[in-house]
Amino acid sequence: MKGIILAGGQGTRLRPFTKLINKHLLPVYDKPLIYYPLQTLKKAGIRDVLVTSGKEALPHFKRLLGKGEDFGLNISYAAQEGALGIAHALSLAEKFAKGSKVAVMLGDNIFTNHEQIKRGIENFENERGAKFFLKRVPDPERFGIAHVAKSNILSIIEKPKRPKSNLAVTGLYLYDPDVFEVAKNIKPSTRGELEITDVNNHYIKAGLARFEVVNGRWIDAGTFDSLLQASVLMLKQNKEFPIEV
Ligand code: G1P
Repeated sequence: MKGIILAGGQGTRLRPFTKLINKHLLPVYDKPLIYYPLQTLKKAGIRDVLVTSGKEALPHFKRLLGKGEDFGLNISYAAQEGALGIAHALSLAEKFAKGSKVAVMLGDNIFTNHEQIKRGIENFENERGAKFFLKRVPDPERFGIAHVAKSNILSIIEKPKRPKSNLAVTGLYLYDPDVFEVAKNIKPSTRGELEITDVNNHYIKAGLARFEVVNGRWIDAGTFDSLLQASVLMLKQNKEFPIEV
């Protein structure tokens, strides 16, 4: 399995900082935000990671992460032109994936239960389609929300006004290599972006999606409140288990 970290976007909810600095380079306690998804993929046994971001920010990631030697990873890069959405950023990774399954992670997502994710990723080697990691949240309007019945996922609605559940779809997605074909065939949403939720609903409709609910903490650090929460969490954890990335 190969890893893809999507580190583009405007970061509008973190302005004015993101006018100058890419969101994924902002600090979470004592490390840039992108270190956390890198650590999650590494702990899951993934070694080859592609980082995608906009043209302006990509040189900063290269300076920070290099070829990944310091992290025990092989890191490569792809530049995304324009803010055309998560599914568009993903389609840049087709050559890198070379027919492998992929673990796609949004660069602002932080998980603490690395063991569960490692197992989920290992099991997916013998599964088909797509796998999602869900988490109960108090503020479902902020996320893609899954409608589930027992162990079946029925649909995902992006940032619903009247959420049917409080099960957020986190920014870690496992896909078969055909995801690049799926991404090519979706249409832009009303906000003009190729949405990852449309890719995910394709797998759901085809009966090829499964999910697990994440134990442990999950933070999408894309707002000031959640970025601060992430820093506090890492400050506390670091006292107990110093992180090496
Ligand atoms: C994105 C996805 C959303 C998902 C979230 C998780 O939203 O579109 O479905 O729940 O990431 O972090 P964004 O944070 O880009 O608004």
